[in-house]
Amino acid sequence: MSVETKLPAGADLRAEIDRLRKERNAVILAHYYQKPELQDLADFVGDSLELSRKAADTDAEVIAFCGVKFMADTAKILSPEKIVVLPDLEAGCSLEDSCPPHKFKAFREAHPDHIALTYINCSTEVKALSDVIVTSSSAETILNQIPKEQPIIFGPDRHLGGYLNRKFDREMLLWPGVCIVHEAFSERELLKLMAQHPDAPVAAHPECPPHIIDHADHVGSTSSILQFAKTFPGDTLIVATEPHIIHQMEKALPNKTFIGAPGADGNCNCNICPYMALNTMEKLYLALRDLQPRIEIEESVRLAARRSVDRMLEMASGTIGLGDLGRMPSGD
Ligand code: 13P
Ligand code: SF4
Repeated sequence: MSVETKLPAGADLRAEIDRLRKERNAVILAHYYQKPELQDLADFVGDSLELSRKAADTDAEVIAFCGVKFMADTAKILSPEKIVVLPDLEAGCSLEDSCPPHKFKAFREAHPDHIALTYINCSTEVKALSDVIVTSSSAETILNQIPKEQPIIFGPDRHLGGYLNRKFDREMLLWPGVCIVHEAFSERELLKLMAQHPDAPVAAHPECPPHIIDHADHVGSTSSILQFAKTFPGDTLIVATEPHIIHQMEKALPNKTFIGAPGADGNCNCNICPYMALNTMEKLYLALRDLQPRIEIEESVRLAARRSVDRMLEMASGTIGLGDLGRMPSGD
């Protein structure tokens, strides 16, 4: 049955979602890359780390996750007693797809002296095979708590890993995954845009390749890019990340101009995340009404993944000492 045929005729979706949110005792979490109408009705909008923290702390019985599957999976890993729904279960991630668990396991086994520091954009199975999970906003803090002599595997984003290697003079072994969205920015088109706006700084997500990062005045997670947008002294900012975040910038700073960095054809539409775009108001309404599609995780995998996600939450807030790192498991 198509989504449309299941909707009540003439339904005011926003009102229906509000009614169901109360009825279900649900919290709606949304990532900055979601469509503006989903960001606007969410109880909380944030980056991957902030959304994980919200999912761990909420008193709601249902978490409706407007984001991609690895984010909803993380919510379930942290809050197994809650019902977690994702409006469209097909909302995946190219980084997750690049890293099948059996290949990651073999990679780990080939490097038994390495610990696995793994970007949250991966499957629950890969989290279960990892030692510490990081997000783009926590990666630097966490890496800096790991002794320089400790060999590290970093996956699945080779651009984030490469950025960290360059910034902190590390030699982490990199899994060869990329984000298809950030990979699509064109250096040539970016240079043209910079020439048109010579005073505009560039803010870039660390998932961008080095030829984009090299032109950035600020590199950081979605939240840190938003923070930069709120504090930079000029009136125009070039934004090299998924352009739906510009919605929050325009809301907070209506008198400033935010320009999405272009793709190869000079049109930034190719930088819209096709996975994030699968979630719609209609699908959110249905997810709250039917409590489907639901995230389910096999308990032993969840517990193993929880270990590395908990370690992220502890290390991101600096509550784990260097002594604890000495007892870090090797991922067996
Ligand atoms: P943030 O944690 O910076 O929000 O990044 C999530 C993501 O998927 C970026 O592509
Ligand atoms: Fe994955 Fe890239 Fe989409 Fe983020 S923007 S969810 S990394 S495909």
